[in-house]
Formats: sequence, structure tokens, C-alpha cells
Amino acid sequence: MFDSLKLSELPKIHCGILRKPSSTRPTIWIVEENGVRAVVKDYSTSKFLFRNSVGRFLVWRESKACRKMKNLKGIPSLYRVIDGLALVLEEIPGRNLEELEDRMEIPQAFFDALKDLVAGFHKRGLAHCDLKRAPNTLLGNDGLPYIIDWSASISEKEFGLFPLNLIYRRFLSDDYVAIIKMKLRHTPGAVTQKEREFYRYRSGPEKMLRGIRDRLRHILQKIV
Ligand SMILES: Nc1ncnc2c1ncn2[C@@H]1O[C@H](COP(=O)(O)OP(=O)(O)OP(=O)(O)O)[C@@H](O)[C@H]1O
Ligand SMILES: [Mg+2]
Repeated sequence: MFDSLKLSELPKIHCGILRKPSSTRPTIWIVEENGVRAVVKDYSTSKFLFRNSVGRFLVWRESKACRKMKNLKGIPSLYRVIDGLALVLEEIPGRNLEELEDRMEIPQAFFDALKDLVAGFHKRGLAHCDLKRAPNTLLGNDGLPYIIDWSASISEKEFGLFPLNLIYRRFLSDDYVAIIKMKLRHTPGAVTQKEREFYRYRSGPEKMLRGIRDRLRHILQKIV
């Protein structure tokens, strides 16, 4: 599917732009072929240095994770990778959690399904590592959760040896902490006391790491 798609043709043949590119972020195009829509996450529009280093690396990381999760319900299928610079992914009709209002209630069933989904990819030996970013979880039009953006994910195999195995375990539980964060934002009444305490205990060091990451991104934006 989408076998003949060329990056150079995207500006002409796309049927929507979900997000315009920035110096460190890919263009997100929508394309359609034989009635099937796909999302193209395209780093070819970034500057030379960035697309050929970070861009290629992130596409490789995300494609590797997607292949591991083939046929896992809740994870968009990867149709193909183009020139090592873009991913063509199944389009999930719905909205990402960032687009929802803070107080828009989400049913408990959504969070239960999300927990099962997280357990599903953990079973395949993957930790997502960036679930706390609300745009990476989608509320599908079918009411079910979908998880996207696997560029920061890590695999159990790569992190098998001590002390990396401890880091891997930490990221596994961070994926669950992210669900508590979503619940706190949308359906705080459903958060149990135990979940609240676990969240408070964990969010301090996490905030520090995110601060470092955001500063690095800022510096990268200036130099590439
Ligand atoms: N398969 C998909 N189906 C529907 N929408 C998608 C899909 N993939 C991405 N999107 C939309 O595009 C947005 C950005 O996608 P993604 O998070 O993969 O890119 P990113 O460059 O890693 O973004 P960020 O750095 O902001 O996390 C998502 O928040 C979502 O709204
Ligand atoms: Mg994202």
C-alpha cells in the first residue's frame, strides 16, 4: 500500500496538512490512495543537517517499534518508510488528548483499555517513554485509545543488561504513570488515593528530565 508514493510529490498530492514543519519537527501530511487515508510523518522538509542525522535516526527508531507491534490493536500500522526520511502510517480518525479540553470527561473504560494497551506493548518488549505528552495519545472516534509517536521508545532487548535493565523497568512504570496523569486532567474523580500518591512520588525527577530535554530541543533549534 502507498508503494508508489514519492516525497517530492507530497506537496502536490496531499489532501491535508495536520502539522506544518518546524526546524526540529516533521511535516505531518494526510494522503489518500484507493479510498484509504494515511498519515505521513515527513522529515525530508527539515534542514539538511537535522534531517540526515536526527531525522533519519527517529524514523529508524519509530519504524523498528512499529514493526514489533504489528497487528496490535491500538497502534497504527506502518505501511512503509520512504527514503529513510518519512513514515507512512495508518490514519486513526479521532483527536489527540491535547486537543480535548482539560475538563472534558473521558469514561473510565477508555483508561482501562489504555492500561490493557500499555500491557500489550510491554509484553512485546517495548516501553513508549513519551506517553506523558498528551498529543501522543488519541481518543479514536470509536471511543478507544490509540498510541502514536514511537520515536523515543526503547526495547527490552537493547536494555537487557545491568544497569540498563533498571532504566528499562523505570520506563515501563512511567508508561503507567502517564495514564494517571491523563486521568488527573480529565477525570480526577476516578483517580484512586494510591494512584495519587504514586504520581506525586514519581513526578519530581521526571519534571527535571523533561526540563533538560526541552532545553536541548531549544538549543538544537538554534544551531541546526
Ligand atoms: N496515525 C495517526 N493518525 C492520526 N493522527 C496522527 C497520527 N500520527 C500523528 N497524528 C497527529 O499528528 C500529531 C503529531 O504526531 P507525532 O506525535 O507522531 O509527531 P511528533 O513530531 O513526534 O510530535 P511531537 O514532537 O509534538 O510529539 C499527533 O499529535 C496527532 O494529532
Ligand atoms: Mg508526538
